[in-house]
Amino acid sequence: MKTAASLPLVINGRIVPITAGDRRMNLLTFLREDLDLTGAKRGCGIGVCGTCTVLVDDKPLKACRTLVADVLGRNLTTIESLAPPEGGLHPLQQAFIDAGAIQCGFCTPGMVLTAHAFLLKHPEPSREEARRAIAANLCRCTGYQQIIDAIMAAAPHYQKKE
Ligand code: FES
Ligand code: FES
Repeated sequence: MKTAASLPLVINGRIVPITAGDRRMNLLTFLREDLDLTGAKRGCGIGVCGTCTVLVDDKPLKACRTLVADVLGRNLTTIESLAPPEGGLHPLQQAFIDAGAIQCGFCTPGMVLTAHAFLLKHPEPSREEARRAIAANLCRCTGYQQIIDAIMAAAPHYQKKE
């Protein structure tokens, strides 16, 4: 049987080699400083704000409170892989822009990934469900209404395609 230490870490569809030293690293630091995946942001650093959110097997995870060892063998998605490889933006990203849901943008990568995970499971949400879905992600700028507008506007995409 494979031990956790021998399992690969898959990030954005690519197998990333992990050393013994990497396994003890904080996941957010590893993503940002070793892999140059700087979309996930360090806000509070204590698991409160959600700016460091990544997806693990399509579920939101706060990378600031996670060790690399804890996600070995899992599939990580960061904001860098949400847009289609052929170019352009993911419809949810475009919806954030169209709805005016981005001001300073610091919360946006984590907010978009949290909303993406929610819509994958709940493609026909109510506004109240959308509001609850982003409750663990803080935004200092928008007042949240535009973010909920964006989630609702993007939902039809998930009903058709995801
Ligand atoms: S930086 Fe991770 S929750 Fe705030
Ligand atoms: S847009 Fe500034 S914190 Fe959300």
